[in-house]
Amino acid sequence: MTYNNLSELKSQCLSCEKCKLCSTRTNVVFGVGNENADILFVGEGPGENEDLQGEPFVGKAGQLLDKYLQVIGLDRKKNIYIANIVKCRPPQNRDPESSEQEICIEWLRAQTRLIKPKIIVCLGRISAQKLISEDFKVTKQHGEFIKKGNILFMGTYHPAALLRNPLNKPDALSDFQALRDKIKELNIEI
Ligand code: URA
Ligand code: SF4
Repeated sequence: MTYNNLSELKSQCLSCEKCKLCSTRTNVVFGVGNENADILFVGEGPGENEDLQGEPFVGKAGQLLDKYLQVIGLDRKKNIYIANIVKCRPPQNRDPESSEQEICIEWLRAQTRLIKPKIIVCLGRISAQKLISEDFKVTKQHGEFIKKGNILFMGTYHPAALLRNPLNKPDALSDFQALRDKIKELNIEI
């Protein structure tokens, strides 16, 4: 399918019943941000708060993400876009199954075609393994920029993982600083 703009795509996505996650969701969490953003952040899937509010990363992990973004001058309302691999919450926050990811990623692909980001930041293993490489190891490869097609990809720690294991926070912060440096190097206006 081709869509003319993000709001047309969103209205289709909001009624999606292409996988079984539709039966347990409260809201489809389509994504949030600037449709012309050069930087797209991709998480795994909605948690409880996101499911209730219909917006990605609004719980504790989201607050931590917003802090890291703020440090490097990014803001979900202004100069980036945030989405997830799956748009509906997996029950009990289990990992999204590979079949669910495979079905739902069509929405993310359509979003990516419309937004046309220059950089995609994968938040956590599920996202990095789906978008960068299936054997991606966050602990080893976080902060590395990898070009695929016209887009630079970078994987970093999932903010929820940082809440569980704060010892990785300095590494995560340096990934965000590397992102800021890359934005400068590429003369990306934010
Ligand atoms: N974790 C994610 O991966 N995505 C969200 O939107 C919220 C928490
Ligand atoms: Fe559709 Fe994705 Fe929700 Fe499954 S998770 S019902 S594919 S929007």
